[in-house]
Amino acid sequence: MIIAVDGPTASGKGTISKELAKHFALPFLDTGLLYRAVGWTLREQGGDADNVADALAACVFDGTLLDNPALRSEVIGGLASRVSVHPEVRQALDKHQKDFAYQTAGAVLDGRDIGTVIAPDADVKLFVTASSEARAVRRFEEMKRRGERVNFDDILADILQRDERDRNRATAPLKPAEDADLLDTTNLTIDAAIQQAIAMVNAKT
Ligand code: C5P
Repeated sequence: MIIAVDGPTASGKGTISKELAKHFALPFLDTGLLYRAVGWTLREQGGDADNVADALAACVFDGTLLDNPALRSEVIGGLASRVSVHPEVRQALDKHQKDFAYQTAGAVLDGRDIGTVIAPDADVKLFVTASSEARAVRRFEEMKRRGERVNFDDILADILQRDERDRNRATAPLKPAEDADLLDTTNLTIDAAIQQAIAMVNAKT
């Protein structure tokens, strides 16, 4: 069983995907980490997001890099969004994701184009959304908990900018697959959202 979970940043898709993988005992791939790895390598090289060839060539997508907590920062998330517009980056990461999806007995993948490009014949496709304000509140609370100095308006602006870039890029833009089920988490607790996602998967299988 392949479960594709797509949606914008801070929609809850990451947590939901991890819990679905646990519940259905499936391997899980957070595909955003692959793009973050390219963004992180680019920054290490002092490179420029319009020219990604060197970062892509130097990037080794192994556990050492993907487990680096530095990949999870907002700065690297923003860089990931910038490098991910390049078709050559998407193409380089395509095989890695398709191998993960199709070479095992099943998988949960979370990203932006899993249901549309990486696994268009996935058994279940969820598109997880929430209002931009709700997502900014979540990100704000999460960063505050980590002890980071944060400004709500900056976070909201960053989310809107990331949405705009992800939705409007020419290659593999963020959008629900035609046959995706929508899960709006705006007014749901994370536990309720997880339960709803499990029910949606059960209804399809
Ligand atoms: O999901 P996450 O926030 O880690 O993703 C970081 C960025 O990587 C996204 O804003 C998006 O631009 C890009 N991405 C993508 N396709 C995916 C996963 C992530 O373009 N499948």
